[in-house]
Amino acid sequence: MAKSTAMILSFILVVTAAGFPAFAAEDDKFPFYPSLINTKSGGFVHSDEFEDPGRCKICHRDIYNQWQGSMHSNAFVDPVFQALWRIGEIETKGEIRNLCAGCHTPIGTVGKEVTFDPVEGVFKTGKVASKGVQCDFCHTIVTSTWKDTPVFNPGNASLLMDPGDVKRGPFKDSDSPGHDTAYSELHTTAEFCGSCHNSFHPVTNFPIERTYDEWKQSVYAQAGIVCQDCHMMPIEKAIEAARTLKKPLNPGKASPLGPMRNNIYTHEFVGGNFTVTAMLGAEKHAETAKKRLKSAAELTVDAPEKFISGKLARFKVTVVNVGAGHNLPTSLTEIRQMWLDVTVTDEKGNIIYRSGALDDHGRIDPEATIFRTVAVDEDGNVTYKPWKISYFKSERVVLPKGSDTSKYAFVVPPKLRKGELTVDAVLRYRSFSQELADELLGEGAVKVPVVDMAAVKRKVSVAKK
Ligand code: HEC
Ligand code: HEC
Ligand code: HEC
Ligand code: HEC
Ligand code: HEC
Repeated sequence: MAKSTAMILSFILVVTAAGFPAFAAEDDKFPFYPSLINTKSGGFVHSDEFEDPGRCKICHRDIYNQWQGSMHSNAFVDPVFQALWRIGEIETKGEIRNLCAGCHTPIGTVGKEVTFDPVEGVFKTGKVASKGVQCDFCHTIVTSTWKDTPVFNPGNASLLMDPGDVKRGPFKDSDSPGHDTAYSELHTTAEFCGSCHNSFHPVTNFPIERTYDEWKQSVYAQAGIVCQDCHMMPIEKAIEAARTLKKPLNPGKASPLGPMRNNIYTHEFVGGNFTVTAMLGAEKHAETAKKRLKSAAELTVDAPEKFISGKLARFKVTVVNVGAGHNLPTSLTEIRQMWLDVTVTDEKGNIIYRSGALDDHGRIDPEATIFRTVAVDEDGNVTYKPWKISYFKSERVVLPKGSDTSKYAFVVPPKLRKGELTVDAVLRYRSFSQELADELLGEGAVKVPVVDMAAVKRKVSVAKK
């Protein structure tokens, strides 16, 4: 404990007036600071040392086809990422470049191959590095350096790579004509993923993305269900694992040249992103993301037997997180949006009450139940820029296997004395607001699509008293 406190202090002490640290101070331990990514040789490794996914494809075609189109394969080229990164580059004069690059193009980072073209406003990197989070990055990782991080926890790419002929994976008896192999327990754990699926502010250590931490405190962690069991499994098996808390099994071959195995992990890495996957032509991944979102939550409406004419009527809507191994929503909760759209209609279809509609500009009704975090900067102003986030002003999320209940009230029109009212509740999700898309990608460049994660209907009769 004393050691980690000392480390936190050493990080804080080097903060400059501009609000960003003199990064050189941690150069010895983390040569790509503020990213904590590193190599076994202790620094720069040319990107030529890493093999192109195209070579792996020769013998691992299925795995390649699953990975190609995933947000991992697109982690560098993702236009939404590039746009926010560009703003960060300009606002911090390049100080956060490595932070973002370490997770979105780890090979470009250790190869010191990322450049920013101020005229075009885009980042560039070499051919292999531009393929984001890829085969030869993940399979040459030797250890997690979480014990050396200032937060004593996985995050900010706390991983050590050792590129070369040895490919590390889950098998203890693997034999390959293409390369040497080695067993790696790390690859079977959530800590492996958590190194990038946890991020904290490099100056204040404030945890900004906490998917790993959320999972760690969940019933899934207790049951031994790791990220891989849901995100590296065919969707039906992942849904089953979430329901039963039993580890899924997926028999198959890692390569046509290898033996039949009791269990192999697929490589689609699908989460909730059906927007950018579709923009980049990965329709299969986009469809799976929708299925994944639709498997995550269940809704119930709790209403009295009757609503009384002319009186205040009350009902409740409960969201249960049945399928996500972390909070709903998770990770970039300052930009992802999940909300309840609730309507009460009479028999003719007239809307008596509505909460959660989108207006003409695609903005969510401010009175709606919105699940998200509201992040603010040092001065308390709302911000979605990770480098500016000081703390969260508010947070509303649904914990894994947990629930959240919203209360609603409306006045039953006095002229309505009989018949039925219908309560419709829909849980909606979109990757980001229309305003943010317009700001990052250009006015009207994309119409941000919405997916209905869950819906429920409840009819209530109206009585005079
Ligand atoms: C610790 C690793 C890590 C670091 C550091 C990091 N990211 Fe990310 N980033 C992620 C992960 C993981 C996701 C995907 C999360 C999700 O989809 O829920 C992501 C997603 C994003 C997205 C959303 C993309 C989309 O298509 O919706 C943007 C934008 C983004 N990052 C920008 C940045 C910027 C800018 C920086 C630097 C200030 C940065 N990231 C630093 C790991 C990281
Ligand atoms: C010439 C064919 C060939 C090529 C090229 C090839 N592999 Fe393999 N690889 C295999 C075979 C066969 C196995 C054994 C599968 C088994 O044991 O079930 C294997 C096993 C593996 C394993 C499992 C190791 C373990 O011990 O768990 C990993 C990881 C792996 N390969 C990654 C890669 C990566 C990354 C690339 C590209 C850089 C690649 N392979 C290129 C044929 C190949
Ligand atoms: C984000 C990191 C990541 C990326 C990118 C990645 N893998 Fe894997 N891979 C893993 C993990 C983790 C496992 C083991 C999961 C387990 O057993 O719990 C694995 C397992 C494997 C295996 C063993 C058989 C199996 O499927 O379980 C092979 C072979 C393999 N990967 C090859 C590849 C190839 C080829 C690529 C690129 C097309 C690739 N991987 C991309 C993380 C990754
Ligand atoms: C029990 C199954 C399960 C486990 C375990 C699980 N997830 Fe998920 N994950 C889901 C489901 C379902 C979704 C879609 C709903 C959502 O967006 O949260 C999802 C979504 C995501 C997203 C996209 C979130 C967004 O809205 O952009 C990321 C990133 C992610 N998971 C990473 C992880 C990581 C990392 C771990 C391990 C620490 C993990 N997941 C463990 C089921 C799981
Ligand atoms: C080098 C860091 C890194 C590692 C290690 C890593 N990821 Fe990711 N992951 C990312 C980044 C960056 C993105 C988002 C790219 C984007 O949206 O532009 C991402 C995206 C994802 C998504 C898609 C999220 C969405 O919104 O649809 C899932 C699911 C996911 N990762 C799961 C995993 C799992 C499971 C593991 C461990 C086996 C893992 N990741 C390991 C960096 C990493």
